[in-house]
Amino acid sequence: MKVLRSEPADCTPIWFMRQAGRYLPEYCALRERHSILQIIGEPELAAEVTLQPLERFDLDAAIIFADILPPLAAMGLEVEFVKGDGPVVRPPISLSTDVDRLAVPPAASVLSPTLEAIGIVVRELSSRAIPLIGFAGAPFTLASYAIEGGTSRSFAKTKAFMYGEPAAWRRLMTKLVTFQSDYLRAQVEAGAALVQVFDSWAGLALGREEYREYVAPYNRSLFASLERLNVPAINFSTGTAAYIEVVAEACGSAVSVDWRLPIDEYRRRLGDARPLQGNLDPAVLLAPWAEVRHRTNRILRSACTIGSHIFNLGHGLLPDTPPETVHRLVDYVHSWKEEER
Ligand code: CP3
Repeated sequence: MKVLRSEPADCTPIWFMRQAGRYLPEYCALRERHSILQIIGEPELAAEVTLQPLERFDLDAAIIFADILPPLAAMGLEVEFVKGDGPVVRPPISLSTDVDRLAVPPAASVLSPTLEAIGIVVRELSSRAIPLIGFAGAPFTLASYAIEGGTSRSFAKTKAFMYGEPAAWRRLMTKLVTFQSDYLRAQVEAGAALVQVFDSWAGLALGREEYREYVAPYNRSLFASLERLNVPAINFSTGTAAYIEVVAEACGSAVSVDWRLPIDEYRRRLGDARPLQGNLDPAVLLAPWAEVRHRTNRILRSACTIGSHIFNLGHGLLPDTPPETVHRLVDYVHSWKEEER
């Protein structure tokens, strides 16, 4: 929180995307008995899973256990997680009239289990001074699931809709901004100390000019609506190295960067005004510790004075990551001193 508020910090803070996930045996044990949607739908279970990684590691933040897709269910689509296949969204949006059928209910009326889970976690963490991160998907990433019906490599249907039905695209993106803005506000009211907006796929799908035209206005409008919440908001994306300046213009208190460029290059391009988050390649954690340490050191040395950087991966922890490596990495980042440059 100090880094996000530009106050002096004693060390570089660290947390992980997917820190509660399949690399943790205790998460897998719970998943044998409950589906992912069951865990998200049961506040006590969601709170328990959220806290699992904090029992093991000295992390500087918790992230509420939820997913970016339940909001699509709240808007009237069917969302399912099929083992081995990833998420399925039905029926996919394909016509302009499908957009008109999407509901925009108050988030608190449809996603109350997540809001209740936030309350439980915040009470549990209150004595430990660890902030809880709320989150939501950015409009493009959610639109891609709604139109493709699941995860995609080419984003062909999403782009066909975007280019072919520009008026319907505007209505879809505007509805998503309205819902997500309300959902993030509700998470902050429930106790989230900060929020992160996940735009996982826009950068992998679109070139700079298309991003400017079809994505940036909606991200800008979402981040603008968050300003009145008075909590930090992290702007997360992947695959956006070619135009990270345009992504960062949509705003947010910090910009999360992937591993496709060294962090000092991201820093040069974005300036010193805001903290950066990232940028270790998640796959590095599958390597022996000496390699992890080497690459971590390179990030910590590169233009990242303590106080200007939140250590994280460029994307989520992979299921094969050894928990022991996560443990060593957290302690290494915390004990790292600038004199080691
Ligand atoms: O610890 C945390 O980070 C909090 C929990 C969290 C989950 N999903 C739980 C989850 C968060 C922040 C998300 C966000 C999310 N979900 C994103 C944005 C971040 C990113 O990874 O780009 C996206 C794109 C999704 C959609 C999603 N959810 C997919 C594609 C999948 C299946 C693929 C996979 O990894 O299995 C999920 C399922 C999901 N959501 C898991 C977890 C921990 C997988 C584990 C499981 O099946 O138990």
